[in-house]
Amino acid sequence: VAMGTRRSDVTTPFSLAAGWKAQPMSIRVLRAFLGVTFLYAGIQKLADPNFLHAGTHDYIGTQLQAFAEGSPIGGLLRVLAHAPVLTGITVALAETAVGVGTLLGVAPFAMAAIGFSTNLVLFLSATWHVHPYFLGSDSIYAVAWAVYLVAMWEQQARSRRSVRNRRQVGRMQPEDATRREVIRGGLVAAVTLVFAGLARAVSARPAAASTASGLTGPTGTTGPTGASGPASMQSGAGHAAGQRAGKVITGLSRVPVGEAVGFTAPGGDPAVLVRLGQQKVVAFSRVCTHAGCLVGYDPQSRILYCPCHGAEFDPARGARPVAGPAPTALPRVAVAIRGGKVVLG
Ligand code: FES
Repeated sequence: VAMGTRRSDVTTPFSLAAGWKAQPMSIRVLRAFLGVTFLYAGIQKLADPNFLHAGTHDYIGTQLQAFAEGSPIGGLLRVLAHAPVLTGITVALAETAVGVGTLLGVAPFAMAAIGFSTNLVLFLSATWHVHPYFLGSDSIYAVAWAVYLVAMWEQQARSRRSVRNRRQVGRMQPEDATRREVIRGGLVAAVTLVFAGLARAVSARPAAASTASGLTGPTGTTGPTGASGPASMQSGAGHAAGQRAGKVITGLSRVPVGEAVGFTAPGGDPAVLVRLGQQKVVAFSRVCTHAGCLVGYDPQSRILYCPCHGAEFDPARGARPVAGPAPTALPRVAVAIRGGKVVLG
């Protein structure tokens, strides 16, 4: 109970139950779901041994590069990709803190604003390629945070209008309020760090770094290592040529067997061409069928992989999903070999 106040006068600053009880059931449901989900998302990143480990499929640097492709905020993501580990740690801790703060009712407006911003950024990047938009989860989460924010604002406005609440504010000493906020902020930070420590403690060893360099471009140049993956794929000839049947994507000799190149499919989607054999090529959309991230290619395993949630597709079997959460194969793009060139079919 707050110092100098009677239990009947005030919602106690440290009473978790009172904070939940004061809200209508509809807001409680939303709050519980968003809080638990963000806490889980933060812990999952911290417990993932590959998240901060360069060269693995779900490395944060790979994800940032992939998200930047075709995103309206690609410039910002490329800047963040220069400090991937710092960005990854910040995102994971922020998600954990938002989850903890939302569940405990600490700085609820700030937490909801950060949650909304996080999902808005993810909508503009990770799930930007999902069509129709409602199949991507981030737009829904952003709206859920916005609804939660508005609901809290309306509730607060109602409370402020009540005579009882005005009396209550009059009794509150400024130093009490400041101290309360400091203690609450410290509580969220402490719980966040405990979760972060536990997650890192139970995290397994990172997977061996892939030597994959992503995809070779149509000119035969190999993409950069380290931040390997979708972002290292170069478009070029394919982009200029890729708008109608018969147009050349690249020369066959420029794609060694087992390698791949990126190009733009008719319709504008990023696509990948894989050479399976001497006279066998296949091509697929790079837009992951799980939530719309762009897949990359690992020439060692000859697998198309998604850096977001680990989906893997086998190009030799029609890009069927062979691991991870993707429900269906990558859409095929018709291509053919003619006169030593690979052309759109
Ligand atoms: S977007 Fe989730 S696995 Fe590809």
